[in-house]
Amino acid sequence: MTTVLHISASPKGAQSSSGQIAEAFLTEYAAAHPDDEIVSLPLFAADLPEFGVVETEAKFAPIYGEALTSAQAAAWNRVEAEIERLKRADKVLLSSPMWNLGIPYKLKQYIDIIVQPRLSFTYDVQRMEHVGVLENRPLQLILTRSSVLPGDFSDFQLPYLKYIFEFIGIRDVRALIAWQTTQPTADDRLAYLTSFFEPARAAARIF
Ligand SMILES: Cc1cc2nc3c(=O)[nH]c(=O)nc-3n(C[C@H](O)[C@H](O)[C@H](O)COP(=O)(O)O)c2cc1C
Repeated sequence: MTTVLHISASPKGAQSSSGQIAEAFLTEYAAAHPDDEIVSLPLFAADLPEFGVVETEAKFAPIYGEALTSAQAAAWNRVEAEIERLKRADKVLLSSPMWNLGIPYKLKQYIDIIVQPRLSFTYDVQRMEHVGVLENRPLQLILTRSSVLPGDFSDFQLPYLKYIFEFIGIRDVRALIAWQTTQPTADDRLAYLTSFFEPARAAARIF
């Protein structure tokens, strides 16, 4: 069975603009693929592991040739489980607002969990470059922001997401960006948002 993992990085639930465009995408996708499994990972509601002192020590223990303590092993199991969840997904949908020119901190926390040496990337000493470990698969980004133009030098959301997922092996990255979500009236906001529903459905048809 094909599994689609929907990672959502807005805390706003049903009110989220990135979430509503993602919903239009998923409704279209599910109609065309009724047997596919859609797994939701709402980062602000999920019980994500912290990446604190135990996890950072566990990350470097094998590099230093040290055995993990039981606390480090327990913490590392949770990190590996999150990477496994991503690896199991045949396709990934990531919806996220821009926060302060980049990504919300929960999405950064998630990335700090899933980007790990050996598990999701390696280093090729001969070629002196990083190599992604994950099999390539489609990643659809649905990104929103109030004002930052796609392609602007102040956009640290799209370039970072594209780079970090390519870094771990996911190179088939597509993006749909709504960049003027803050409109003066509720009607304007709704009209702007709904204008992205058809492009989202079109993206779902080729996902
Ligand atoms: C903490 C915070 C920081 C934000 N920073 C930016 C920003 O740097 N640039 C921008 O264009 N919009 C910024 N915004 C606006 C959001 O990106 C925009 O409202 C987005 O559509 C929200 O998506 P959501 O409804 O899915 O959460 C910010 C919003 C918040 C709450």
